[in-house]
Amino acid sequence: DLVGRGPARGRTPDVVGHRGSSGLAPENTVPSFRLSRVHGADRIETDVQLSADGEPFLFHDDIATRTTDVEQVFPDRAGDPVTSFTWAELSRLDAGAYFAREFTGTRIPSLRDVALAAGPRTQVNVELKSPANSSGVEQVLADALRHDPAWRGLVARRHVVVSSFDSGSLRTFASLAPEVPVLQIGAIPDDATLAEWATWAAGVVTNHLRLAPEDVQRVRRAGLSLSVYTVNDPAQMRAMMALGVDAIITDFPDVLMRLRRDT
Ligand code: G3P
Ligand code: CA
Repeated sequence: DLVGRGPARGRTPDVVGHRGSSGLAPENTVPSFRLSRVHGADRIETDVQLSADGEPFLFHDDIATRTTDVEQVFPDRAGDPVTSFTWAELSRLDAGAYFAREFTGTRIPSLRDVALAAGPRTQVNVELKSPANSSGVEQVLADALRHDPAWRGLVARRHVVVSSFDSGSLRTFASLAPEVPVLQIGAIPDDATLAEWATWAAGVVTNHLRLAPEDVQRVRRAGLSLSVYTVNDPAQMRAMMALGVDAIITDFPDVLMRLRRDT
């Protein structure tokens, strides 16, 4: 499972919805999270940043132009960092129409929204995204996970994990919330670095295109779990399952769930 003891069901990996089921719905939105749950994914992955007035919200990019109508709503600020907008301003943006007309009116979610969408059985992986742009996000996330009723039960059941490419931010979060497992995202390092990571992290998350077969055993020997992103091609999904990774992050959890059932 998440804490480095190998795949949860024998040799089959956990299914993780990347920004929800972002192949079928607008990424990092409630409809996308709900679809992952409907499809029976084990976990929803999402990205958290802090608004200018300190509200944690779920958004991947550094700027809002790709996935929202920011150019219409704030034409003079469209290229500004998404973290320079207040939560009230972010709440005016449409985060669904870019994907398909039927999702028009979908809003950027707050951090709490993914906990509510996950429900009692689905786990959540919150990635600290570009934390250098979100000063203090580690404390805000730690406080929310500890004190918000929407999160407390999930944390108590070990249904929450926090990840980041940014080691410094991730370690800061880990020291503030030692009860929450953390996953380091990035290339698989040498054995000495893996051993050091194992003193504070539960696992590593790496790009499947850069995973060498021998990395799987090296990560496991270090006592860390191994997750791979972003695997959307069924042949690649099968290859990752054959390698024995612990979790596969995909935009299409429905496809991976079918493959896992048939394996
Ligand atoms: O957590 C794995 C993956 O989500 C990291 O890349 O750019 O999709 O956040 P990105
Ligand atoms: Ca992510």
